[in-house]
Amino acid sequence: MRKVDFHAHLLPGADHGSASLACSLKQLSWAQSMSIDCIVTTPHFYGWKQQLSDFLSVREQSWGELKPYLNEYNLEVIPAAEVTLFRDLPDLLGLEQLTLPNTSYILLEMPMETWGNWVYTAIEKIISVRKLMPIIVHVDRYPEHEIDKLLDWNLVYQINAEAFDHFWKSRKYIRWVEEQRVHLIGSDTHGEDGTDFRKLDKALKRLSKHEEYLMNNAERVLSGKMI
Ligand SMILES: [Fe+2]
Repeated sequence: MRKVDFHAHLLPGADHGSASLACSLKQLSWAQSMSIDCIVTTPHFYGWKQQLSDFLSVREQSWGELKPYLNEYNLEVIPAAEVTLFRDLPDLLGLEQLTLPNTSYILLEMPMETWGNWVYTAIEKIISVRKLMPIIVHVDRYPEHEIDKLLDWNLVYQINAEAFDHFWKSRKYIRWVEEQRVHLIGSDTHGEDGTDFRKLDKALKRLSKHEEYLMNNAERVLSGKMI
């Protein structure tokens, strides 16, 4: 069983997760020291203020910079995107280019403030018109009444390791994993100090009974299968 980190910002210069190649290499060293085998890297895409073509070319350039070093680390890195939902996202030309490679899964970040009905309409359209399968990222970070509603939609849901940091507060999140309402876990790593990878390591220890479930889900999603 591989250990998969399903959310990380470590492409050099692609977003605020890593300012330089040196930072990205430190991040990979941290991941390796936590025995992580595979990282889905998720640079931010904010479609209301940047062109898709610009995002793709920055990601490609950044990926090209990091890739030659990967064979020094015993892990796989998969370039994807964290796509923040906005009203016109379902109509964005080329949206399919933001999926996980060779799948129709797309990692979607919801708004942080109270959601209007447009959020639900937009998700529906992404599924039914664009034929994409949303993975809702860091489900632990949204207003409770909103995410509780969205969890009933039977999408794929990713939780951040940080959610399991606080012993009492995390009981709800452990229950979500136990009830198989949440499927994937990620460090959401930013920066070079290793904090987020350590949180992932700690969370997986707390969730040891469910690690196989989480990692099997990750492999299924990476190969384009339904959970
Ligand atoms: Fe993120």
